[in-house]
Amino acid sequence: MVLATYNIKGGVGKTSAAVNLAYLAAREGATTLLWDLDPQGASTYLLRVKPRIKGGGSRLVRGKTDAGRRIKGTDYDGLDLLPADFSYRHMDLHLDASKRPTRRLSRVLAPLKREYDYVFLDCPPSISLVSESVFEAADALLIPLLPAALSARTLDHIDEVARDSTRRLPFFSMVDSRKRMHRELMESFTAQRPEMLRTVVPLAADVERMGQARAPLEEFAPRGGAAVAFRELWKEIRERLHR
Ligand SMILES: Nc1ncnc2c1ncn2[C@@H]1O[C@H](COP(=O)(O)OP(=O)(O)O)[C@@H](O)[C@H]1O
Ligand SMILES: [Mg+2]
Repeated sequence: MVLATYNIKGGVGKTSAAVNLAYLAAREGATTLLWDLDPQGASTYLLRVKPRIKGGGSRLVRGKTDAGRRIKGTDYDGLDLLPADFSYRHMDLHLDASKRPTRRLSRVLAPLKREYDYVFLDCPPSISLVSESVFEAADALLIPLLPAALSARTLDHIDEVARDSTRRLPFFSMVDSRKRMHRELMESFTAQRPEMLRTVVPLAADVERMGQARAPLEEFAPRGGAAVAFRELWKEIRERLHR
């Protein structure tokens, strides 16, 4: 099953979700791969793997290289990583140049789907060919949303572009529940959007600390509210997927 953390915007918690959820999936015994599609390589960094400087990641996306040869192990059992590649920043061009751009990613993913129970795609923030490919390739989109009025547009946009068969699992991210505005917004939003997950990821210093720890939350702050939230989120996602 292919799960993509996606939002048009950066800085909303896509990478944090991808790393923590992939970790939790692997810890349960599922064979899990995280593919870092963002040339900035944040999830590659958090999992302590070196990004490829000019490794021809675009060749991979064009189907000219075998993905298996680029996969790295991580410090965690059952969790592998396909590291970020700086050439992904040209990926739009490469996808565009190929005949059926949106099929490429699906084709590269086909053997990986057979090999892994879960493939997480950590997406760059964009509305582009890359995201169209992701919409086509993913079984479900995990969409972190800030509790802000504009977030409604993100979902509207995805509704326009993604296929109906691609499930959307949006959830609130970076929530300060002491803020009345956050609470009110979430309440009205959830009333209009029944697909919203019930679990909310709080705004928490622990999540920021992942950058220093270079590790998933479970490894250094398992009792904190953020780790609790991600465990709950993963449980809810699994229930939705297997319903
Ligand atoms: N729930 C949260 N609470 C506090 N900081 C967060 C939270 N989620 C993400 N951050 C911080 O915000 C920044 C962007 O998060 P990241 O997960 O990289 O977002 P994206 O992948 O969408 O750009 C990072 O510095 C991260 O540590
Ligand atoms: Mg990111």
